[in-house]
Amino acid sequence: MLDFTDQVVVVTGAGSPKGIGRTIAHTFARQGAKVVICDINQAGVDANVAEMHGMGYEAMGYVANLTDKESVDKMVAAIVDTYGRIDVLVNNAGISQKVTVADMTLDDMKRIFSVNMFGLFLITQAVCEVMKKQNYGRIVHLSSVSGKRGGGVFGGAHYSASKAAVLGFSKNLAREVSQYGITTNCVCPGLINTEIWKSMPKEQADAVIASIPMGRPGETQEVANAIVFLASKEASYITGEEIDINGGSHMD
Ligand SMILES: NC(=O)c1ccc[n+]([C@@H]2O[C@H](COP(=O)([O-])OP(=O)(O)OC[C@H]3O[C@@H](n4cnc5c(N)ncnc54)[C@H](O)[C@@H]3O)[C@@H](O)[C@H]2O)c1
Repeated sequence: MLDFTDQVVVVTGAGSPKGIGRTIAHTFARQGAKVVICDINQAGVDANVAEMHGMGYEAMGYVANLTDKESVDKMVAAIVDTYGRIDVLVNNAGISQKVTVADMTLDDMKRIFSVNMFGLFLITQAVCEVMKKQNYGRIVHLSSVSGKRGGGVFGGAHYSASKAAVLGFSKNLAREVSQYGITTNCVCPGLINTEIWKSMPKEQADAVIASIPMGRPGETQEVANAIVFLASKEASYITGEEIDINGGSHMD
């Protein structure tokens, strides 16, 4: 078991009731971390924090809109006020939309990028300043198999482009912040067993499954396991890397 005792871990988009972020938050908490659940969804934050408190975990909720710099800066300042440090940032918040390029508007493109890339940039920038002062930090970004192979399951080309942008951002950042003891890595999940998958029509679901060598979707826990490793002290010489978690559906 990797030990996160006394570490402060911020997970964005962790207010989703059955999303990947909730499992990530629980996994860090089980391993001793103080977890900050950040989301734009107040009810989701309240429910997930209450659930974690009920399980005896240390968790704090914060409602913030990642696309708004003021909101992000206030949140990061509040976390530092409460805990004094931030050891791990998991950039999990993300949005998608199923639309063809032919039907896509510029506003669609801006909306997807505003969360998946610009929001990720804003919180990463703010948290990096805290981590630099500590001379320690671990950042893990949720990219996607779509960012590498160009969609194929959910979402449109704007989603794929935003997730590919995250890969480049993380690598460039790695060159800048390694000198401060900060690592930055990505995970690229394939199809994961979340609500969106369960809502897919059976015929489409069967076709997707047929394209996965392991013959099943991944579980949120399988994504969280890789993230926790990348965020651990043990992953000290890994930065600018990306880990595929896709059951073999894309290999490079
Ligand atoms: N589910 C999958 O199969 C899959 C596959 C590959 C990658 N991913 C990525 O993993 C991450 C989590 O996916 P999920 O399926 O659990 O998503 P989800 O929709 O269940 O959760 C995303 C959360 O992000 C929050 N959010 C959205 N905009 C926000 C904003 N402006 N500020 C703060 N929070 C905001 C939402 O409120 C939501 O709670 C996403 O980045 C997604 O792109 C998911």
